[in-house]
Amino acid sequence: MHSITALVASLILPIASSCCSKQDKIEKRVDELLSQMTLEEKIGIIHAQSKFSSRGVPRLGIPDLWTDDGPHGVRPETLWDAWSSALQSNDSCTVYPSLTCLAATWDRDLAELYGSSVGAEARYRKKAVLLGPGVNIMRTPLCGRNFEYMGEDPYLSGEIAAPYVRGVQSNGVAACVKHYCLNNQEFKRHNVNVNVDDRTLYEIYLPAFEKAVKEGGAWSIMGSYNLYNEQHCCHNEITINKILKGEWGFDGALISDWGGVHNTDEAIHNGVDLEFGTGTNGVDINTKNNYDKYYLALPYYNKIKSGEVGEDELNEKCRRVLRLMLRTSMDGKYYFGSMNSPEHSADARKIADGGIVLLKNEGGVLPICSESTGKIVVLGENAIKPMAVGGSSSSLKARYEISFLDGIKAAFPNAEVVYERAYQGEPTIEGYNYSHYDITDPRTPEQLLSDAIEAVKDADHVIFIGGLNKAVKMDCEGADRLQYGLPYGQDEIIDTLATLRKDLIFINVSGSPVAMPWIGKVPAVLQAWYLGSETGNAMADVLTGSVNPSGKLPFTFPVRYEDCPIKTEAQYPGIAPENPKGIWEEVYSEGVFVGYRWYEANEIKPLFAFGHGLSYTSFEYGKISLSSKKMHKSITVSVPVTNTGKTAGAEVVQLYVSDRESSVVRPVKELKGFGKVYLEPGEKKVVKMTITPRDLSFFDSASHSWVAEKGEFEILVGAASDDIRCREVIYL
Ligand code: GLC
Repeated sequence: MHSITALVASLILPIASSCCSKQDKIEKRVDELLSQMTLEEKIGIIHAQSKFSSRGVPRLGIPDLWTDDGPHGVRPETLWDAWSSALQSNDSCTVYPSLTCLAATWDRDLAELYGSSVGAEARYRKKAVLLGPGVNIMRTPLCGRNFEYMGEDPYLSGEIAAPYVRGVQSNGVAACVKHYCLNNQEFKRHNVNVNVDDRTLYEIYLPAFEKAVKEGGAWSIMGSYNLYNEQHCCHNEITINKILKGEWGFDGALISDWGGVHNTDEAIHNGVDLEFGTGTNGVDINTKNNYDKYYLALPYYNKIKSGEVGEDELNEKCRRVLRLMLRTSMDGKYYFGSMNSPEHSADARKIADGGIVLLKNEGGVLPICSESTGKIVVLGENAIKPMAVGGSSSSLKARYEISFLDGIKAAFPNAEVVYERAYQGEPTIEGYNYSHYDITDPRTPEQLLSDAIEAVKDADHVIFIGGLNKAVKMDCEGADRLQYGLPYGQDEIIDTLATLRKDLIFINVSGSPVAMPWIGKVPAVLQAWYLGSETGNAMADVLTGSVNPSGKLPFTFPVRYEDCPIKTEAQYPGIAPENPKGIWEEVYSEGVFVGYRWYEANEIKPLFAFGHGLSYTSFEYGKISLSSKKMHKSITVSVPVTNTGKTAGAEVVQLYVSDRESSVVRPVKELKGFGKVYLEPGEKKVVKMTITPRDLSFFDSASHSWVAEKGEFEILVGAASDDIRCREVIYL
């Protein structure tokens, strides 16, 4: 080799080998540590030692591993062995909007900002793992945890989850994408066995996890409570070994949900790497040394000592746990994170601003001029109700939480803002000793209503803030909603008020769709989500127009529950077992026809469609141009969009694909691209979205592969799934 070349090679190779050594360094370190660990130490790091931590190996300089909830803020400290609060005074946090709100932004950059912001709070609190995001698909509007997830579409969920994961992990904190997988209801969540065909599994319920792993680079995944193929998903041969770690090459740690591990043999062989929250063998889950009784603790140790099993599986689990530690608490970065900073408040407000959805706005009822000197009557329990606390594991101790009412008062300094409850739902919340409230109103329902009617008579503006809340059987983990309609008699009250006031503004606070039987009588409706610490400020931003709403629905609002795909008990909640402690059998017989895929295939008109969201301005779409009409590796679809109104605003341009000739029944169209563009009045920009053969494909169970069949496909681009503005045909 020529001497110059040799010299250059001698210089580059070590650099080249060192430049990609981040991963190599970690692997080398894993080998070093593993080779020095005793059997007891290996067993020690693969199961919990407290409610939210697992053991390190001090002898080798390996710290304990600390995890904490949750997806939209860092949970306050609990006691060592119990769920109850440690009543510390230094663990309040910034409360970010719930993940349905983040999904409603359709903004990948905001998702990354969200992750980096909440991840900084987790790092500051010395957490190596943040137990979120949740990405389970909304299969039924009644699921109690819809508010923690990202809606009904796998493409949108994955596109928002991946940047959120990258953001969290940029702090040296692992995201823990949950709940893997098929955890689409809370009812009997520990013993529902989901029967679903492969095509539906791969097309609907896996993609968000797949994207979080492949594009987000998730360092951990949380197994789910339910069963699939008769095996619990925290130790499942197919979903973990074959798909997650096999097909996707996931190299992180599979962490069980709390109490999701049920037997040692399956736990050894079916992929769980870290066992948390187990109440083993009937032992009281808060008893001391219960941790030795975990399925992956003494029972596993004894199987190895007796020669019944080898150490290969144990070493693989330890590798993954050590890798998780070296990527987080042992990453050597002196990044301290930050907590409750003004920057984080601004992040929370920006996400809330971007996620609020203007569902209806007739007669220009909105926005309301902030200089208004009139009388603004604010109605409804949710105007004053704290929402950071509640909902179970994602409940938070907010350092502050600006209510809708307080935000409105601050935004209209010259107006007379009057509040009337109008109805009383659940004025207190139990079980969260770290933060509770009592907003009990002594008046009777009749009095509450008559006071509200009296107040609105001479009002200039009337804003009713209702919807759901974080109480059990509402938007809350552990149970599903029992009704699709609004609770506490709100419908009748809204109907009465809408008869009196043709300019009524309704703000729905929920993480799921609800019925709105009075919709024809209410000219202005906003979907408000759980907006976190900056709730009132963000809503006021939109009400005054200082922020032009740009959110789009991440799920459909069907008119009535009967329009949903769920038609049989087997579909939901499942067929009850003979033995009450047995397994409920559930069949996802609707297949891929979930959400808009169902309503469009059955020509059922929704109340509000997937992707729907209005603006205070208007946008015009130009003609689609394609990089090619023939699909080879990819096609870039370019769409010019112009702001034809007088107000700056952001538009979410959505791209759907329709397979016009296929050998299998496919949805009318499916979301396969989107871009959010901010435009000044009169401004035009071109939104570019790229699609690949995978975006044209369906999953073929027989060949166990993605298949894109030759022929015509239609590209449909628009402002909502029911508002297509332009279309083109491409060929494969
Ligand atoms: C809960 C939830 C999970 C949470 C965990 C720890 O049961 O299912 O989302 O992260 O336990 O609180």
